[in-house]
Amino acid sequence: MSVIPLQALPLDQLRQRSSTKWQKYPPEVLPLFVAETDYALAPAITDVLTRAVLLGDTGYTPPDPGVREAFVEFSRRRFAWEVDPAHVFWTGDVMMGVVEILRRVIDPGDRVVVMTPVYPPFFDTVEEAGGVVERVPLARTATGWEIDLPAVEVALAGGARAVLLCNPHNPTGTVHTRESLAALAEIAARFDATVISDEIHGPLGHAGHTFLPFLDASPTAAEVGYAVTSASKTYNLAGLKCAVMVAGGPAQAKVLRSLPDEVEWRTGLFGAMANVAAYSAESDAWLDGLLAALGENRRLLADLLAEHLPEARFLPPDAGFLAWVDVSAYGWGDNPAPRIRREAKVALHHGPLFGEEGVGHVRINFGCSPELLTEAVRRVGSLASS
Ligand SMILES: Cc1ncc(COP(=O)(O)O)c(C=O)c1O
Repeated sequence: MSVIPLQALPLDQLRQRSSTKWQKYPPEVLPLFVAETDYALAPAITDVLTRAVLLGDTGYTPPDPGVREAFVEFSRRRFAWEVDPAHVFWTGDVMMGVVEILRRVIDPGDRVVVMTPVYPPFFDTVEEAGGVVERVPLARTATGWEIDLPAVEVALAGGARAVLLCNPHNPTGTVHTRESLAALAEIAARFDATVISDEIHGPLGHAGHTFLPFLDASPTAAEVGYAVTSASKTYNLAGLKCAVMVAGGPAQAKVLRSLPDEVEWRTGLFGAMANVAAYSAESDAWLDGLLAALGENRRLLADLLAEHLPEARFLPPDAGFLAWVDVSAYGWGDNPAPRIRREAKVALHHGPLFGEEGVGHVRINFGCSPELLTEAVRRVGSLASS
């Protein structure tokens, strides 16, 4: 299979970007916080968007923008997952999809299991849907993290109605095993609870870590679950607004069909075009190039941390371009990121926003050039030795 070798854009070009990663902080700060990546777009995406701009093709998203077929094909090629096209729906972004599904599957005041540390908007999204967050921390193992199945069972036995799963998990990068996902599904089924699986980092499994979609983990998983995902994280399309909601079975498809028309209408036309191009076979070589570049950076980050921040505790993620790093040994307080930004001029994501397990942690985005990553860790290392 051909691979397009990927190199991040040069810093002077990146600084011309108008997205939050490049605009939130002044130019002397190296931004490794929000989950945007620094590569040029996949050529098929550039082509479709350029053509649309030249045509002034900036109106509303049509009733069938092709997202369904593109997603079904992508899932078959990349995950050997057979998705029933009748089970695929779309909306503006992943968190919009999650909130709309939650609104249908819980009643106001119901508890929803969230596995901390986790992508911070999970907390707000549960509340936006009228739910109450029930934190069930991931269990730490010798080699990583895993779902704490006994604790989830206690939560569901105690009345929690849904589980908001992150698969692969942000910020730890955990790719959950089939055993773990299938067992989660069994527990959910026993208590008639729903599992909503956020799979936005799914295409980014590193070598040796094959991502398994929750709905494909077992027949029971398909009966209790929904998945919500988008090409936006892998292909850096977050500003364009398109995500896919997948029903595990006909009952959930009925729920998704019954959502207000507005939920689908919020899909951005550019988002739909870009997702279709991203999910097409034409973009596979770019994705393989991205995985190769991220794989290199993942190794580089481990070396850089060992050299410049030897007291940091870090396990390379199974998937994605985000690294969860415990820097508590350096005594930079509960939330080290603001001090690192002020004094080392490197913006990292704030650990405690991910839950109380994030005290003393930072999240590092390594979807950048090796040079930028090296300079960022070197700067933080200088703070450690000053
Ligand atoms: C796990 C997870 N879900 C959702 C999102 C955001 O997706 P969207 O912008 O489509 O809501 C992110 C962004 O980093 C994420 O890491």
